[in-house]
Amino acid sequence: MAMVGNECHEVILVDDDVEMRTATAQWFDLAGYQVRSYPHAVAALSDIVQGLRGVVVSDVRMPKMDGMQFLEQVNGVDPDIPVVLITAHGDVTMAVEAMRQGAYDFIEKPFDPERLLDVIRRACEKYRLIVENRQLRRRLAGPVSIEQRLIGTSAVMKRLHEEILNLADINAAVLIQGETGTGKEVVARCLHDFGARHEQRFVAVNCAAVPDSVFESELFGYEKGAFTGADQQRIGRFEYANKGSLFLDEIGSMPIALQVKVLRVLQERELLRVGSNEPHLLDIRLICATNKNLREECSAGRFREDLFYRINVVELNIPPLRDRGEDVLLLFDFFVGQAAEAYRRPCVTISSHGAALLLEHDWPGNVRELKNMAERFVLSSLPMSQRLASMLSGFEQEVSGVQKTSLQELMRLHERALLDHALLRHQGDVQAVMEELVLPRRTLNEKMTRHQLDRRNYVRD
Ligand SMILES: Nc1ncnc2c1ncn2[C@@H]1O[C@H](COP(=O)(O)OP(=O)(O)OP(=O)(O)O)[C@@H](O)[C@H]1O
Ligand SMILES: [Mg+2]
Repeated sequence: MAMVGNECHEVILVDDDVEMRTATAQWFDLAGYQVRSYPHAVAALSDIVQGLRGVVVSDVRMPKMDGMQFLEQVNGVDPDIPVVLITAHGDVTMAVEAMRQGAYDFIEKPFDPERLLDVIRRACEKYRLIVENRQLRRRLAGPVSIEQRLIGTSAVMKRLHEEILNLADINAAVLIQGETGTGKEVVARCLHDFGARHEQRFVAVNCAAVPDSVFESELFGYEKGAFTGADQQRIGRFEYANKGSLFLDEIGSMPIALQVKVLRVLQERELLRVGSNEPHLLDIRLICATNKNLREECSAGRFREDLFYRINVVELNIPPLRDRGEDVLLLFDFFVGQAAEAYRRPCVTISSHGAALLLEHDWPGNVRELKNMAERFVLSSLPMSQRLASMLSGFEQEVSGVQKTSLQELMRLHERALLDHALLRHQGDVQAVMEELVLPRRTLNEKMTRHQLDRRNYVRD
């Protein structure tokens, strides 16, 4: 029996497929782990306790509670417990989501037992280190420069760095405008962190996410008994941000009826909790952000002009990613490095062809879209030469759902995707693909040529 050389030696295994479960449990057993296996996640929950000296391995698709929900539960008990999920082969979206939700790793079906054991061994070895590392990193995380926080060396970004540093220390209200995903929140945090108030609170309110009915009490707080259900006094976000910065995100979505109340608070610099007559003095640094054109919103009567002038003492415009030239490559490298470290994958670089694809794309979702793509790139199991092209064409396919696309074009995309998946599943075995899709060899060859699919790219070593 192999020895497990550290303190972490338990495996909690969940799979509803009895054969799979028994076989997997046997491998673990042979490798020297203590295995406890369960047919469903609910039964396994009682075994999940803080400080568990082991690893959780779970199938994703299961009745009652699926692997993702189980992961959430385990995270809730102790986010340091490594969870390895078993996903369907080629399900990158699910895998990306799992890693984001904090899975230690995922393994695709059908899997090689040695590979699974390898993952478990690493998870175990890293278990204690993860905790130690985090503490260490927190201590070392000293002050970082604005260039490290807001990445970009293009002229527009350099100018933005300057502007932020110039504005950080003054109290004027700043309105940050920019398309979705351009980094408005990062900029808001930089304004706070590089300014005189950095030791005070940064309080963010997403105006689009607060329901109208509770907006006032959420922002201004209330006194006990102010309305039915107000059984305790509550401090609002404005007051909570006192002496620090208040970030009103997506301010363009603030209901018009509330705008006048916010305006009053900003003008008077004092605040009344709901149900109170006693004003509280407010000293906040106001930062607002929007991806709407607030001037247009004002003309359309959806945003109060007086409030607009109050929040827009200084305007910071964040350029869309497509106007930042080679920053795209810099950011991609950065996010790939980040994802590779977080997901313990090798740090990969892209070819010049890949770089050209990235530079050509117009990035409607801006930096967020690029970051997502970098994560998928790192986690994808496709051969390197195909990763970017498949993601960018996949993206176009999604976009074309809302734009007008001919049926013929949709069918072409669909056919390509079907062939791509079949080749992936059969690891480039053309004979198997022919049989699965009931296609004569010649037709398959023609189609593969037309779609520029090369079987060699699907062969695994
Ligand atoms: N220049 C940058 N350097 C590093 N990371 C960035 C940069 N810009 C954006 N990001 C990252 O991209 C993601 C999107 O940024 P952010 O949330 O700030 O965008 P946003 O403009 O607020 O988007 P939305 O309009 O959708 O709210 C975040 O994960 C952020 O950390
Ligand atoms: Mg935002």
